[in-house]
Amino acid sequence: MDPALTQFGDEMSRLTGVRAIMKDIKETLRAGIGREFINLSAGNPLILPEVEQLWRESTADLLASSEYGNVVCRYGDSQGYQPLIEAVAEDFNRRYGLKLTDRNILITPGSQSLYFYAANAFGGYTRGQQLKQIVLPLNPDYTGYGGVAMVPESVVAYKPFLDMDAPAHRFKYRPDFSQLEINENTGCVLFSRPCNPTGNVLTDEEVHKIAALAEPYQVPVLIDSAYGPPFPALNFTDMTPVFGGNVMHCMSLSKAGLPGERIGIAIGDERVIQILECFQTNMCIHSPRYGQAIAARAIASGALADIATEVIRPFYQNKFKIVERTLDESMPKDLPWFLHRGEGAIFSWLWLKDLPITDWELYQELKQVGVIVVPGSSFFPGLREEWVHKQQCVRISLTASDQEIEIGMIRLAELVEQIYDRSSISGQRSVVAS
Ligand SMILES: Cc1ncc(COP(=O)(O)O)c(C=O)c1O
Repeated sequence: MDPALTQFGDEMSRLTGVRAIMKDIKETLRAGIGREFINLSAGNPLILPEVEQLWRESTADLLASSEYGNVVCRYGDSQGYQPLIEAVAEDFNRRYGLKLTDRNILITPGSQSLYFYAANAFGGYTRGQQLKQIVLPLNPDYTGYGGVAMVPESVVAYKPFLDMDAPAHRFKYRPDFSQLEINENTGCVLFSRPCNPTGNVLTDEEVHKIAALAEPYQVPVLIDSAYGPPFPALNFTDMTPVFGGNVMHCMSLSKAGLPGERIGIAIGDERVIQILECFQTNMCIHSPRYGQAIAARAIASGALADIATEVIRPFYQNKFKIVERTLDESMPKDLPWFLHRGEGAIFSWLWLKDLPITDWELYQELKQVGVIVVPGSSFFPGLREEWVHKQQCVRISLTASDQEIEIGMIRLAELVEQIYDRSSISGQRSVVAS
């Protein structure tokens, strides 16, 4: 059957960004049965025993409680399961000195759905046919933002400013405020902090500046804190979550060990929460309640925040250090390679300046030496202009064993050296130390 599709149907029935590459990766792994691949592509968190145990205990507690039937055998409120909303409000009020009430909180089936609601409630065409943009202040950013808008032209991203530390082979992206436009055509602003794919953490000052630019236009600023504190607390550098005014703090429990249960949490202005809640009622009524009930327990007891800082953060921070150390030891000093500062998340991001082949070709060649990474060009949703940098980066996942990461980085370094060496473009091995 080949049913006719609407514009929205056409848009939503395609895989965007990294999802398309994941299909290729899946097929590579399947076709390569018997061959050992080091898979550094996954965005799926690892199962950490302490974290699994926390969810097991929370489940046992739920099963033993009189609440169980009410949780799984009945529909609930669209806004979310009340004990979870209360646990979040109490935890955040105490932790950050806020005055949240339950009206400031919405629970969604994963945070991806939250961005879908917001992208289509605030982005796209108004009744008067004005195009409201979903502004991504800085690319690269989460590839999923490319798929959430039913009106793809509404997603608009800006090139960053590159803050270089060339002698150390490090760099960091910063928002380029001289280019960034937030105005009456902006529907909402969205960015991840810490960032998937780069591990970048926008500074508190940069975040306040973005929020202040959006404030006069009553534009919501969604800060995707899927890796932020207090859970999963995958920030390796100090950062303060920002709340209040037009800022919506958006969280996910996926990297805190519950990706299968699909729990997203939005904290923000009452009116914005109401709009998103209506969207949710129309779409799926409410988030599943089993996951919400176990999350309520782990948040109310404080166990989730503790495990995040004591187990989850050090685990991935250590993986980043292995990437960093191995690349420092094995990448030639005279090549223009730059690792993004590892400030958080579960990825590292490598920029190979003047790379003689594209990121996609590099991905294919890396597969030949048994290493799978994600080509970086998938992480520029909304950035339409040509920019050679887009084809010079790869995302390296921190979700492999220490040894796999080490071997993977050594093989990558060897291959990258060969690629620059065989290039006909001269002088590429001397750019760096400037
Ligand atoms: C930055 C970022 N935001 C949002 C999501 C979606 O998370 P979920 O829908 O599982 O909450 C992800 C998933 O990897 C992510 O990396």
